[in-house]
Amino acid sequence: MKVFINNREYTAESNETIIELCDKVGIHIPRFCYHKHLSVVASCRMCLVDIEGVNHAQPACSTPLRENMKVFTHSNKTKIAQKNSMEFLLINHPLDCPICDQGGECELQDVSLEHGDDHSTYMQLKRVVIDKDISPLISTDMTRCIHCSRCVRFGEEISNVKELGLLNRGEDMKIDVVIEGEVTSELSGNMIDLCPVGALNNKPYRYKARTWDLKQHAGISPHDCLGSNIYYHTYNNKILRAVPMENEQINQTWLSDRDRFGYEGIYSKDRAFKPMISQDGKLIECENQILLDRLNHIIINAIKNHGTENIGCLISPQSTSEELYLFQKLFKSLGIANIDHRTNERDFSYQDDYPIMPSLGININEINEFQNIFLIGVNIKSEFPILSIHLNNAVKDKTKIFSINFDMLDEDFPVFYKKIVNNKNILSLLSNDIEEINVQPNEKNLIIIGPTVSQLPNQSDVLSTINKFNESINARIGFLTDFCNNTSAWLLGNLPHRDICGKKSKIIGKNAYEMISEKLSTYILFNLEPEHDFWDSNIVESALKNSKCNIIFTSYITPMIEKYADMVIPISTFAECDGSYINIDGTFQSFSKIVEPKKDISSGWSILNNLLKYNSSDIYDIKTLRSEIKDLIKDIDIRNFKINFKNVKSKNQLEGNTFIVTRRNTYKTDSIVRRAESLNMTMQSKDNNIYISNNIANQFKDNGYIDFENNNIRYKTNEFTVKTNLPDNTIIFSTNNLNGKYTGPKSQNINIKI
Ligand code: SF4
Ligand code: FES
Repeated sequence: MKVFINNREYTAESNETIIELCDKVGIHIPRFCYHKHLSVVASCRMCLVDIEGVNHAQPACSTPLRENMKVFTHSNKTKIAQKNSMEFLLINHPLDCPICDQGGECELQDVSLEHGDDHSTYMQLKRVVIDKDISPLISTDMTRCIHCSRCVRFGEEISNVKELGLLNRGEDMKIDVVIEGEVTSELSGNMIDLCPVGALNNKPYRYKARTWDLKQHAGISPHDCLGSNIYYHTYNNKILRAVPMENEQINQTWLSDRDRFGYEGIYSKDRAFKPMISQDGKLIECENQILLDRLNHIIINAIKNHGTENIGCLISPQSTSEELYLFQKLFKSLGIANIDHRTNERDFSYQDDYPIMPSLGININEINEFQNIFLIGVNIKSEFPILSIHLNNAVKDKTKIFSINFDMLDEDFPVFYKKIVNNKNILSLLSNDIEEINVQPNEKNLIIIGPTVSQLPNQSDVLSTINKFNESINARIGFLTDFCNNTSAWLLGNLPHRDICGKKSKIIGKNAYEMISEKLSTYILFNLEPEHDFWDSNIVESALKNSKCNIIFTSYITPMIEKYADMVIPISTFAECDGSYINIDGTFQSFSKIVEPKKDISSGWSILNNLLKYNSSDIYDIKTLRSEIKDLIKDIDIRNFKINFKNVKSKNQLEGNTFIVTRRNTYKTDSIVRRAESLNMTMQSKDNNIYISNNIANQFKDNGYIDFENNNIRYKTNEFTVKTNLPDNTIIFSTNNLNGKYTGPKSQNINIKI
């Protein structure tokens, strides 16, 4: 349809509003309440524009274009209308810009400068709104609020958690928490970005810098496999805050709190700053070059003296693709086959039938095309908050969500069918009882297998049962993984049975669990924390204690590393190096160094590259390394992956009657986020509860406490919450429980002693 804006002809789509077309063609219209991802309320009246033939100026955000409509965004009528709106909005807004964190990026400040007047006719006193402490992540100055209701609509429409609401009317109108207490959703920080004034600000960033002094750097989320796009803002070589970088395919204009505040973990006091070598049982600092020579010497000697089969190389899937590529290349070139990244797993029988890499099988933004989505072993709200926005939209588009999980956590979107299972009854549920679900094979069905499944001691049986269930409903199968770069870890051959791009290894090495339980002579850990990143931290402790040499590439010194490392090589975090991740829909995303690391910290890839020099002629710079990886993966199409776990069978015997679930606490999932101070003050981080099923509680009538042994450590507690909806014999621990000590097995059958 033909329309005219400022006397110039444009083509508009039917139902397109004036503001949508103007945004598309780059014509500026001031606004406060309008946001392209929120519903239109047209309450602030800042976007008023002059329309030919209409008496009064009309809001551009809510006025649809009509054939031959003539709009004037700069006419006198428009200017006067906008000036009046501006004056009205400033009636109660304090003019405290010099002490407001929003100063320099405040929409009210900018719009007032361009469209406001230099004086006001309003002479009465301004109102004051008393502030509340609503969250450790968001600071409030509610006197500054202009009642645009963006924060309220975000909770109602995007996160689906109604945390803030508009109370009262007229002069008494104010934004307040809906339920007394904290704002706690995993997406709460988005309200900071949405607030056009300084009413909702970033609390950890408060008063740290002025926005015009900040430098902006593009980055990719290192905390989950979705790969949200982020801008990090730095001042004096320090990251002070993170904001979303728009990417309609992944995170749109949103960011999870974990991605927004997780960077704080890189400033933790226990960073590894210096290379260290153990002497007389103590770690002493040494120079980088000495370390490299020594390291090469130790590895070569270990091979000579104990054989390659006695060396275990383990790497975290939070490492960059460059690190993962060089790690396996270096150690495979030395003849070592014991290479793995699956340190959180216990059952590996499925491995030969696994696709070339884990993937969702679709693009993230295609999720709303499915009629039925089965979520198995995952809590999207806490583990993948950005995906919960996509799923919330899918539900609005009539998708039915079926949640089959080992934990009882709720989702932020409506769930059509919910079942809490254990590792035994999931098999019968998917084999027989699921018929009640009534999903037809001719519908568009999707099964998403979450990270908890990979940690089950009978993972292979569960995968095989899911596969059989899938045959009955003809679904596409996708995965969500526990770290940001599991895709690269698989694809780039950090496995004992596969080389790059799924090629079968000539020699089959030991898997991660075999490596630590069979007690090898040398362990090489890259970016892994023995206390937290293994299926069983007690077994790994015993392995490190009994080995002859432990070489640890790490960003942090943990108590176990301090105790058992023979060599510590400090490596940079994601923020201090160039790198890439491949997200769960197969998108390869690269990023550059955001801040300079301390003097003796090097990027993991450059250390591996330097080590490679000793034994190979393949030397890289970041560009050639990256293009070599890109070349390897250029023909991979996630839609062609054939998933066939039909014939896999777990080898592990399920011991005992009790099923222990270790809840993957959102803010403890990786080494960086675990150390993010502000996130550690949130309610999620403080969840130390132990939840037990009804039948276990009934056994405690007399003495009322749980007393059990977990790999030689005895736990005794009477602080637990009984949950009637848990399957019999189930106990749920939070990862930060057990007195803040080791997380213990991720999921295992354990006998309770009363
Ligand atoms: S707090 Fe901010 S986002 Fe919320 S209504 Fe007030 S001005 Fe708008
Ligand atoms: S932006 Fe149009 S009325 Fe607020």
